Amino acid sequence: MRQIDLRSDTVTLPTPAMRQAMAVAELGDDVFGEDPTVNRLEAMAAERVGKEAAVFVPSGTMANLICLLAHCGRGEEAIIGHMAHTFLFEAGGSAAVGGIHPHTVPNQPDGSLDLAAVEAAIRDPNNAHYPRTRLICLENTHNRCSGAVLAPGYMAQVRALADRYGLRIHLDGARLFNAAVALGLPAADVARDADSVSFCLSKGLSAPVGSLVCGSAEFVRQARRQRKVLGGGMRQAGVLAAAGIVALETMVERLADDHGNARCLAEGLARLPGIVLDPASIQSNIVIFELAAGAPAPAELVAGLAARGIKMGAIGGRRIRAVTHYGIEAADIEITLEAARALLH
Ligand SMILES: Cc1ncc(COP(=O)(O)O)c(C=O)c1O
Repeated sequence: MRQIDLRSDTVTLPTPAMRQAMAVAELGDDVFGEDPTVNRLEAMAAERVGKEAAVFVPSGTMANLICLLAHCGRGEEAIIGHMAHTFLFEAGGSAAVGGIHPHTVPNQPDGSLDLAAVEAAIRDPNNAHYPRTRLICLENTHNRCSGAVLAPGYMAQVRALADRYGLRIHLDGARLFNAAVALGLPAADVARDADSVSFCLSKGLSAPVGSLVCGSAEFVRQARRQRKVLGGGMRQAGVLAAAGIVALETMVERLADDHGNARCLAEGLARLPGIVLDPASIQSNIVIFELAAGAPAPAELVAGLAARGIKMGAIGGRRIRAVTHYGIEAADIEITLEAARALLH
């Protein structure tokens, strides 16, 4: 039976061209700055996102943690959405490792943070009772907001607010290239207003491992130090970076196919009884839908689909998440809809 794994775009496997590039990659000790393949990937990443420099790190989680540690000291505060990946799913690392105080503000359904709510969360630096606010964290695309893409222009407003209070902005761009493709803009435009941006090679871009932290040359110098603190300094990491270079060269434009497949999936699911979903809200490759009261429980639908070779994730409440990616074809969406129809008739 064909397996259709829609649990996440992290399940993607490297392409044949990536495996070939990994096999022949020129290598050196990257902690000495001597791996030519890592150096090439870092230069390419910085150029793509429009920042001065970049550093290759093992994961998106470490990328975000490095950025928070580089921006904030112990007892300082980062304003962050209550549904941000960094807040929900990164094991509280910034608090555990960095003593950084997260100050949550509600995410809007479009992934944004209301500007007035952000402003209200900024602390008076002259009041000794308060932690000192340092950072505003945003996420684009937004995982828990169904892959929502931040509206162009929104970040410029956050930038203006941050500048008024002397704050920095970190963008969790794990799926930055999905946002860029969805908007039809260069990734550099999407990341322009952020002081630091992280992005993942191992999600929709399908490389096996790795993320990049990008920012000013000085910021990246700090980030390299934090990477070392966390044990993320890798040696002949060019074997991994080689796949990342192929990812940036060959896997960005095709993300549009994933977005088209997600939209088809959402449109088909929205027509089924018991499913609550507005397909027009799906902007990238993540489809989150709800099962109405009276419909099967999410665990039941997920199990029924799994028995037909289709994997989705129940993500709490009555919600289920499906993510399209490299390896999922238009025909797989038809098979998935057929199976869901049979289970929900
Ligand atoms: C928005 C976002 N940020 C960060 C991460 C963390 O990436 P990693 O799994 O590589 O640690 C994820 C992973 O799904 C994510 O969706």
